Amino acid sequence: MKNVGVLVSGRGSNMIALFEAMRSGDATGRPVLVLSNEPDAPALARAASYGVATRVIPHRDFRGQGREAYDRALAAALDEAGVEIVCLAGFMRVLSAWFTDRYAGRLINIHPGLLPSFPGLHAQRQALEHGVRVAGCTVHFVDAAVDHGPIIAQAAVPVLPDDTEESLSARILEQEHRLYPYALALLCAGRVRVDGRRVLVETERAGLPLALAVPAP
Ligand code: GRF
Repeated sequence: MKNVGVLVSGRGSNMIALFEAMRSGDATGRPVLVLSNEPDAPALARAASYGVATRVIPHRDFRGQGREAYDRALAAALDEAGVEIVCLAGFMRVLSAWFTDRYAGRLINIHPGLLPSFPGLHAQRQALEHGVRVAGCTVHFVDAAVDHGPIIAQAAVPVLPDDTEESLSARILEQEHRLYPYALALLCAGRVRVDGRRVLVETERAGLPLALAVPAP
């Protein structure tokens, strides 16, 4: 059973999807800490209602001290809680190389785009503006570059002619809530191995529940 920490800044719907997977046993982890840089993040109350410990470390308190000083405070809180796997779930801060190196191989993120296309903010808007026919989401290991690390899993959705940013985001979000628990389950079960840019996933022997073993239609 792995101790899982979740970093959030906002509403926390992916965080809840991860909690549910751990609660059902689909992912062999337990959520031990939710950390937010935003004191008003709705995710905090939602985490508390699941009985998960929460902490706020406002980035504004570290103004002028550099990115790493903030990240060291994050790591100290994660260590104190005994966190082994860190999931970014709408955490709206760029992490320093110090942090990403420290958690290499056990730090993952979900991005609402099919990387390496459309990294950064507003991936769904970028997809619409670019006129792509297929969009989706990606779970990847986090390295020092934004939305860049080795890809663990992806799910695709169609882009429809009358899509708005809202409608496309909602369609992608539905898949995010399936994909992120699947990726966490793999990581908790020790079924992923990084080989350069590629992630080798062992699913055959994973013994994962069928619903999780097939990430997307
Ligand atoms: C999601 O779209 C996720 O892919 C992106 O930020 C959003 C967070 O939403 N990284 P939520 O807080 O999980 O509801």
